[in-house]
Amino acid sequence: MSKNNPEKFNVVIIGAGPGGYVAAIRCAQLGLKTACVDDWRDAENKPSPGGTCLNVGCIPSKAMIDSSEKFHHTQHGLTEHGIDVGEVKLNLKAMHARKNKVVRALTGGVAALFMANKITFIAGRAKILANKSIEIIGHKKSDSQSLLAENIIIATGSSPKEFKLAPFDQKNIVDSTGALEFTSVPKHLCLIGAGVIALELGSVWRRLGSEVTLLKSRKNFLPDVDQEISTEALKLFTAQGLNLKAGVKITSCKVEAKKVSIAYQEENQQVTYKADKLIVAVGRDANSQNIFDPSLAIELDDKGFIKVDEQCRTHSDGIFAIGDVVGGAMLAHKGSEEGIMVAELIAGHHTRVDYATIPAVIYTDPEIAWIGKTEQELQTAGVAYNAGKFSFSGNGRARAAATTEGFIKVLADKITDRILGVHIIGPQASELIMQAKLAMDFGASSEDIAMTMFAHPTLSETLHEAALSVDNRAIHAVQVKKK
Ligand code: FAD
Ligand code: NAI
Repeated sequence: MSKNNPEKFNVVIIGAGPGGYVAAIRCAQLGLKTACVDDWRDAENKPSPGGTCLNVGCIPSKAMIDSSEKFHHTQHGLTEHGIDVGEVKLNLKAMHARKNKVVRALTGGVAALFMANKITFIAGRAKILANKSIEIIGHKKSDSQSLLAENIIIATGSSPKEFKLAPFDQKNIVDSTGALEFTSVPKHLCLIGAGVIALELGSVWRRLGSEVTLLKSRKNFLPDVDQEISTEALKLFTAQGLNLKAGVKITSCKVEAKKVSIAYQEENQQVTYKADKLIVAVGRDANSQNIFDPSLAIELDDKGFIKVDEQCRTHSDGIFAIGDVVGGAMLAHKGSEEGIMVAELIAGHHTRVDYATIPAVIYTDPEIAWIGKTEQELQTAGVAYNAGKFSFSGNGRARAAATTEGFIKVLADKITDRILGVHIIGPQASELIMQAKLAMDFGASSEDIAMTMFAHPTLSETLHEAALSVDNRAIHAVQVKKK
């Protein structure tokens, strides 16, 4: 449609990440005439719906995590199973090619779902003007157009935060996207930050052979994770060779002769570290600039996130915002659930997202996963609770697979026994946590899980035993009477 005669839609969605594309599909399922605009382009300059998550985030990072785990396991994990292998060689080019194929399959899948659901997909950069008119600058200028919408969903996502002392050059100093593309294994790899991205991608390159140093400004490691879990994680990751320096102050980063010199202060000592590559992973900023005309009543908070109510409404009538651009948990599944909620609200349904039970996972080896409250949060809030804990070393299936590191902890209200939080470090934590999610969403008590029959031998029995242990009756561990 031309600029003078804009096509009208019930809903226009800006951004085709896991927030936007899921919202678009749900809108279409509900019979709403839907368009989705996205400006992502792949390496060949072609449109590539799926946003950060599919193109440079969740999916390619997990492809590299799985490939690097297989490489490492083949080298170091098979002998104890009685399997001797010859020299194990890394073919990084083939590893990247597989990752890129996985990404293409999934972004192609989104495009196919758009077609099947009769969603109009427009490749280009959108801006909201007055009266819910949307101006789109196409990938080719000649493709520029305008649309009119009854409702607009902003799902523009987020971008890596810059660290002033180490601006990205995407060669030596890279963000998470660059960190997924190294064409050779850096001998010395430095990361600024020790959060989710730094741990996942630092572990990838460690397994592929890098010496890895992580520098972080604050002293505490994984501050949002239950402290017992973060203490265990620090112990395990240090043993794997991740060299964590916490509480350091970085004073300069210089690229000299293809190396990065990072100078930092560590307990009054000035240290200089020379790395082949530096990954900066100090959080992500909302993509909230130049998305809407300033005359609109859309407000940003002091960090640049779009302000919304608990159902993702902005202050501008009929304009919603979802996913990373509104902040909170910057997770794909949180954005997707918000997308579904908003689509259903627009279609006149009653719906909400339960923000209290968002599962979180860090895909390290072992994985870390949690849901609900940590012990520290319960203590700060003055909530009385019982804790039950069980180690994977006491689990038959974990022993059989030689994956015995870690434990599961269940926190339950002291009076009602309702589950308040579940915290896991261990094998397949990302899958196991979903049992806790289901239990919590159905309002289960630890007794409900304790009374459930679990198949044997499974890793899930660790959750069963942790729930039994809330009441001091785990079977495969000596129980000490709680005070
Ligand atoms: P995005 O996925 O960022 O999508 C926004 C889209 O909008 C993009 O395509 C962008 O190009 C487009 N856009 C922006 N502005 C405009 C405009 N003006 N016009 C048109 N289009 C526009 N989360 C998890 O839950 N699990 C994980 O394992 C995980 N791993 C991650 C690994 C990495 C390395 C990274 C960086 C992130 C990871 N995340 C993970 C986070 C996850 O990727 C984000 O939470 C998620 O992508 C946010 O979805 P979204 O739809 O809000 O935004
Ligand atoms: P993060 O918030 O997890 O970690 C940031 C790290 O940088 C922290 O360790 C912090 O202490 C450190 N830091 C901040 N400022 C610093 C400074 N000035 N000097 C040194 N260190 C500094 O952010 P990250 O890792 O960049 O990830 C961004 C988001 O992406 C996450 O919040 C998460 O939501 C999402 N993500 C999710 C994944 C998952 O679900 N498995 C995987 C990867 C990313």
